[in-house]
Amino acid sequence: MADVLLRVAAPVRDDGGLLSGSFIRIKMMKTALGRPVTLRKHLSLESSLGPRLVVEKHFAQLGHTYRHGRLYRWFEHQITRPTLKLGLQMAGLYSRGARNAITPMVRRVSLEFPNLPAALNGFQILHLSDFHIEGTPGLTESLAPILSSLRPDVCVMTGDYRFEDHGSSEPVWPLMRKVVSAIHAPLGIFGILGNHDSSEIAHGMEEAGVRMLINEAVGIGDSDAPLWLAGVDDPFDYQCHDLARALELVPDGSFTVLLAHAPEIFEEAESEGVNLYLSGHTHAGQIRLPGIGAVRQNARCPRAYTAGHWTHGRMQGYTSAGVGCSGLPVRFGCPPEIVLLELRRSPELP
Ligand SMILES: [Fe+2]
Repeated sequence: MADVLLRVAAPVRDDGGLLSGSFIRIKMMKTALGRPVTLRKHLSLESSLGPRLVVEKHFAQLGHTYRHGRLYRWFEHQITRPTLKLGLQMAGLYSRGARNAITPMVRRVSLEFPNLPAALNGFQILHLSDFHIEGTPGLTESLAPILSSLRPDVCVMTGDYRFEDHGSSEPVWPLMRKVVSAIHAPLGIFGILGNHDSSEIAHGMEEAGVRMLINEAVGIGDSDAPLWLAGVDDPFDYQCHDLARALELVPDGSFTVLLAHAPEIFEEAESEGVNLYLSGHTHAGQIRLPGIGAVRQNARCPRAYTAGHWTHGRMQGYTSAGVGCSGLPVRFGCPPEIVLLELRRSPELP
């Protein structure tokens, strides 16, 4: 093991932390794959979370708990969810939907890029999203053995660890620790925040072993041809995403993967040169009807970007159906999805 210097993209700190453009000393370890792992010094999450903390304070002053007011939450808990649950029970569908919700599938997706560095050919990214982990009993137990059987190079999590968007996050930690401990990814586990996550969740996820990217980026893999992972804060409800800041130190022409909770900022990402955009949030509808598709889109962008693989200009994207549920712990026509992406270099043109 040797110390090396690597440039890490991070926001400017005025609190004595890392400055933009700084070189920091990190450890490089050879992995079983023969690739080095980058381990970055812990930076001040509090500083990265500054804009989100302002939003949370604003919500609190309005008497809201995070994004929704009390009336909305009362209606959701007392009317919407019980009515939907009763309707499904009367139709004899609820138990089937609950079973579907704890039966995840592994979706293997191969993506070709003409500019993929040769060193990254065959690179595998495990993409997990929208756990809402404490809201679906039995989900953690279903996920763990599947995750432990996979051998990706890196794992990324695109937000929404908590079921509700308010209240205590305490039930999240023991379950997410079980999930994290089941993952074997030699280059690490990286995450971003979703719209159900409060800022405290970023700290909890780091303690669980997930390196959170809040409007910043890190280079991983081969130091001669790294893959740059950039993460932005939630662009859906909190709207604290700052793509320019996240990408500010990513070298021009680098192969860059963006993590954003929702697919809404696809145009900006493509114009900034992002190669692959990974998101979730939509749950691909969670309930999909034959011939119709998602009952609810839940995104402010064209439907084409709300589920599965898509392209926009030179950029490709994948919007995960997620592994968890929101509202009720049921799924129909839309199984929980563990996505294993393999990056391939396009064949040379004649
Ligand atoms: Fe979600």
